[in-house]
Amino acid sequence: MTELSTNQDFIDLEDKVAAHNYSPLPVVVEHAEGIWVTDVEGNRYLDALSGYSALNFGHRHPALVQAAKDQLDRSTLTSRAFHNDQLGPFCAKLAELVGKDMILPMNTGAEAVETALKIARKWGYLVKGVPAEQAKIIVMDGNFHGRTTTIISFSDDPEARDHYGPYTQGFESVPYGDLAAIEAAIDDHTVAVLVEPIQGEQGVKIPKEGFLPGLRELCTAKNVLMIADEIQAGLGRVGTTLACQYEGVEADLYTLGKALGGGIVPVSAVAADAEVMNVITPGTHGSTFGGNPLAAAVGLAVCELLETGEHQQNAANLEGQFREALEALIGQGVDEVRVRGLWAGIDISTDLMTGKEACKKLAKKGVLAKDTHGSTIRLAPPLTITSEELKIITDALTEVVTEAKQA
Ligand SMILES: Cc1ncc(COP(=O)(O)O)c(C=O)c1O
Repeated sequence: MTELSTNQDFIDLEDKVAAHNYSPLPVVVEHAEGIWVTDVEGNRYLDALSGYSALNFGHRHPALVQAAKDQLDRSTLTSRAFHNDQLGPFCAKLAELVGKDMILPMNTGAEAVETALKIARKWGYLVKGVPAEQAKIIVMDGNFHGRTTTIISFSDDPEARDHYGPYTQGFESVPYGDLAAIEAAIDDHTVAVLVEPIQGEQGVKIPKEGFLPGLRELCTAKNVLMIADEIQAGLGRVGTTLACQYEGVEADLYTLGKALGGGIVPVSAVAADAEVMNVITPGTHGSTFGGNPLAAAVGLAVCELLETGEHQQNAANLEGQFREALEALIGQGVDEVRVRGLWAGIDISTDLMTGKEACKKLAKKGVLAKDTHGSTIRLAPPLTITSEELKIITDALTEVVTEAKQA
């Protein structure tokens, strides 16, 4: 094989031999540290996406890398056929952090969501008394919960869904944030409502204030489980440990992922109280890698970082600066911005450029971000970012829209 050196060399190779299920920006990252990444040609970029919140603590956070290195020297995989000395401490710490009794560890976010759906259905049959095969789960229009066949069965995004049928039954989708529609959809067979506290893939769509508390009340009144998918929104991103806590809401089940693995290993989990979680019995659910000692050691170190509250506080402190800088662009090439904590969705005026074009221009200015749904870009820098560094991002975006408007 000829030697690879430029970004284009690597991109050409990838194009030939890796499936085309993504359309990345033309940047080939070789090295990453904190909020910065460097490509194979030595160009440096500020990572304003953070692996869709998987890198909430930045790249290679020293405490997380140390936890992983220490564990690599001890044991990495046992399978759940045996116990390991990392799983219990990890689950105890995570349960305490999110205020639940028990944890079911998995690997990817989609697996955590699948697990929560299975738990909810089983709870419906065994505890609520729903007739066999009749369980219904209510989901939200515009949802994104992962890529499995069941999950895409209740997606309304044709890109995610088309040509993958036949689809899994038992889901009803209602408009996001519409309590009346949820109430109307709930019937005697309804076991759960699955909701993202903020819809990340939809462009950081924040429901109206009061929606989550209202949903909590409704679920309690109707004996329906509230499942909050905190995989992208949770673990510090919005300034609280869980996004539900921003409105003082406690869900019955949480799905967690992304940042739980510290950007090092895939770690996901479902958290729930014992009366719900105990519908899962030996042999009825599992994963070869879920709860492995390496993942558990990193997950525990992530929980320890979150326990200090420092990263949540930084996100909360910087929200105002972030909002102010982005709102100043409204009418200047930006139609709308939505900000919570260190998470922003920015709708670029469609007559100016697409989200993807904006991200390409941002990359040229040394800032990496990701477009979604045509004209929206998402910013989600590591929670370790400083005020000055955050200004680099908002200044770059200001330049991109100003230059496009002048062109
Ligand atoms: C809210 C939400 N749930 C689930 C997932 C799926 O996670 P994974 O890609 O790790 O399967 C994602 C991924 O973006 C997500 O944003």
